[in-house]
Amino acid sequence: MEKDILSILCSPETGEELQLVLDEVSRGRGRGREVLVDSGTGRTFPVQKGIPLLLKGDEINGDGKKTRAFYNLIAPFYNILHEIQGSQRGGEKKLRERILSPLEIGEGDKVLEVSVGTGSNLPYLPRNADYYGVDISFPMLRQCARVLKKYGISGDLVLGAAEYLPFKDNVFNCVFNVGGFRLFNDKPRAIREMIRVAKPGAKILIADQKKSGIPLDLVPRETSPVNVTEIDEWELYCMVFRKKC
Ligand SMILES: C[S@@+](CC[C@H](N)C(=O)[O-])C[C@H]1O[C@@H](n2cnc3c(N)ncnc32)[C@H](O)[C@@H]1O
Repeated sequence: MEKDILSILCSPETGEELQLVLDEVSRGRGRGREVLVDSGTGRTFPVQKGIPLLLKGDEINGDGKKTRAFYNLIAPFYNILHEIQGSQRGGEKKLRERILSPLEIGEGDKVLEVSVGTGSNLPYLPRNADYYGVDISFPMLRQCARVLKKYGISGDLVLGAAEYLPFKDNVFNCVFNVGGFRLFNDKPRAIREMIRVAKPGAKILIADQKKSGIPLDLVPRETSPVNVTEIDEWELYCMVFRKKC
């Protein structure tokens, strides 16, 4: 696991700092497996293949379990399925570029994609920023790690839930979510979390299927006015607002 990310991570349970240590059992066997320790409660969170597993509690609640099982299963085929779907509707590249166009990503910015999946959006964004991706599906994140490598994108991945983002307050210059919002168990909480981890003035973008409803009523009044565009060919909405300065 990259040590740099530690400065912005926190425990999804307590919001406390995390410390990277070698766990006792593996240390005894001389193997040295990394774990993260909540400095408040002492609870440990594993790190698997360089990805910290930072879920609140031991499991995902409610429908989240079914959602995760679904994405765990389709992870190896997700990108190809989207390409096929895209080729029937004018191309995935065109769609993703259009959705992501309102983001204003500057040199050295920290950018978070909530429910990053296999990282299909990241190749369409500028390379001069640092990307962070969070998702509840480990197999989707493993595919995403391959995408980061293939396109030479600087990025760190974390297993976690949108409703309990394992990041400190006011960290990201930009936070976005494409195609995951309708799946979240607790949508009001997920929006609050996206706002919490964004820096004051940062842009927040949410895009998803129109039929699931545009969650305008969930955006708190103290943000900037919300701009909504509809992408009819794909039956999508794209909602953008800024965190209050
Ligand atoms: C339709 S995919 C979108 C992936 C990617 N953003 C894209 O544009 O291709 C939805 C993703 O949301 C993730 N997801 C669902 N519920 C989540 C939650 N509560 N927290 C974090 N990720 C979640 C799934 O595991 C899946 O990878």
